[in-house]
Amino acid sequence: MRKRSIRDTDVTGKTVLVRVDFNVPMRNRAVTDDSRIRAALPTLNLLGDRGAQVVVCSHFGRPKGQVVEEMRLAPVRARLSELLGLAVQDAAGPSGETPVRVASALADGEFALLENLRFDPGEEANDAGFSKYLAGLADVYVNDAFGAAHRAHASTVGVADYLPAVAGLLMERELEMLGKVMTRDDAASPVVAIVGGAKVADKIQVLRHLARKVDMILIGGGMVAAFFAARGESGGAVVVTGEDASAAAGLLDTKGVEVVIPTDVITAPEFRENATATLHKSSNIPRAELILDIGPDTSKKYSEIISKARTLIWNGPMGVFEWSRFARGSEAVARAVAANRQATSVIGGGSTAELVGSLGLVDQITHVSTGGGASLEFLEGKVLPGVAALDDAE
Ligand code: 3PG
Ligand code: MG
Repeated sequence: MRKRSIRDTDVTGKTVLVRVDFNVPMRNRAVTDDSRIRAALPTLNLLGDRGAQVVVCSHFGRPKGQVVEEMRLAPVRARLSELLGLAVQDAAGPSGETPVRVASALADGEFALLENLRFDPGEEANDAGFSKYLAGLADVYVNDAFGAAHRAHASTVGVADYLPAVAGLLMERELEMLGKVMTRDDAASPVVAIVGGAKVADKIQVLRHLARKVDMILIGGGMVAAFFAARGESGGAVVVTGEDASAAAGLLDTKGVEVVIPTDVITAPEFRENATATLHKSSNIPRAELILDIGPDTSKKYSEIISKARTLIWNGPMGVFEWSRFARGSEAVARAVAANRQATSVIGGGSTAELVGSLGLVDQITHVSTGGGASLEFLEGKVLPGVAALDDAE
């Protein structure tokens, strides 16, 4: 079901509450990666240009219903002001009298930012009182926080009961692009999914869902151990449970999709940045070694498959990409995805987005999702509560 869009909503002269996901990386109280703030700018600029009075709200970190000084949004407000080219006011709160006063004093085209929503225990509890309070600040509610759409909280779900509730431009684009990679038609095929991650249990729902939607799945990351175990081979030093091995076996046997696993891997005797890295054929992994990356033959094969794809979806690194000795497989895959200009390429958020960001490849990818957990749940085929709560399009 399509959701009502900010594009078709009259906001001029109205007060609009916009939920964004400004849960951004920060160090020493300064924003170190403003991708999520930039991603919300199209919606915020549209509202400003149309003369709305804009109250922006977000969570940050996990303060668990209390004020935590280091989790205040002041550094985010500073960065947002720079990016919008105007002073975003401090609406304080996130509850009490000040936000009400600041919101009602806003002039058309002005912005204010509410304090971290999770300072109020009503946020995560999806409390009706807090939801009504938030709704009382505005005339229209816009959800542009795709990254938090898997959370059923007051600002993502509850508030939508009390106001016209519409999707922002980022929310729309996320749903469109992530939806597109799970649609297998002639124009889009071959659809190739690349799925990495440490444990098969964390990714099994995604793998099962994608297996019904795509032509091929390339497997990487520590979870390859379960696939080797499924073939009766050594998965190295990690303990592969019977459950994980049978989940992997089930995927390998799935009809209608080709599940490709590495032919070679990089291993180390311990999980440490400078541990000795050794290359092994997949059929020959020593029982004492941990699998920390895919090997060069696998990288080459995966890159060839990726170069022929028309649609690409990638979630999860191929190895421990934060450590240079175990980053080559992830880098090779990232470069192959970026190099395929004929394909629609979508990167699930979280560590995969971080990886393509660190390689400077974001501009060569069709869409890099701002959602970590949210994109994962979307790829699992789940309905995101923050999306479900929005008004249906006419
Ligand atoms: C994220 O960073 O994935 C989102 O902002 C959600 O944060 P949460 O996992 O703390 O709910
Ligand atoms: Mg006003």
